[in-house]
Amino acid sequence: MKIGVLISGTGRTLKNLIDLAEQKLLYGRVQCVVAHESDVPGLKYASEAEIPHTWGFRNVFPFLESHSVDLVVLAGWLKFLEIPPKWTNRVMNIHPSLIPSFCGKGMYGHYVHEAVIASGVKVSGCTVHFVDNEYDHGPIILQRPVTVHDEDTSDVLAARVFEEEKYAYPQAINMYAKGQLEVINRRVKFKYCATQPLD
Ligand code: GRF
Repeated sequence: MKIGVLISGTGRTLKNLIDLAEQKLLYGRVQCVVAHESDVPGLKYASEAEIPHTWGFRNVFPFLESHSVDLVVLAGWLKFLEIPPKWTNRVMNIHPSLIPSFCGKGMYGHYVHEAVIASGVKVSGCTVHFVDNEYDHGPIILQRPVTVHDEDTSDVLAARVFEEEKYAYPQAINMYAKGQLEVINRRVKFKYCATQPLD
């Protein structure tokens, strides 16, 4: 499966996917990368791995299609992306909270974890979801929880959540690649899971 990755930040998620693909732990490979602007730090991982890349936030889908991408993965992408109808349920995002809490426009990065801590909730986590045309809103694929400790700073909590992201995103991508995800009425059903263990 050919994966197009969209980035706006450090590229840790991109790097994780590149490494897992190299280790044959990802059912696909990173085919191309788009950054929303030219100086996005994570672009260095695309360069190092000699993965075709570009920057800009217009005409993203024509670029992805020119690289025959099957699945688009938002990896810290911060621009609103309008999803063309034929890409419905073929674009995934990961958000560093348990959607529908602490998400939506303006809720990204440290803002999320600061809001979580300020609220006093005991549990946070990450959510992988398909992207629709509302912020952090599409059908939820996977969630992994983490405990919020009294002494947590937003940086400490962010690091704990990111450790879970490193498992959640590849797992969701692999399930997609194996045809195990089915979206029915905004609900993602896992097909075949009773008989086919995930790896
Ligand atoms: C993570 O918080 C993720 O949940 C969000 O972007 C952050 C990762 O960005 N979507 P990066 O991979 O470090 O650039």
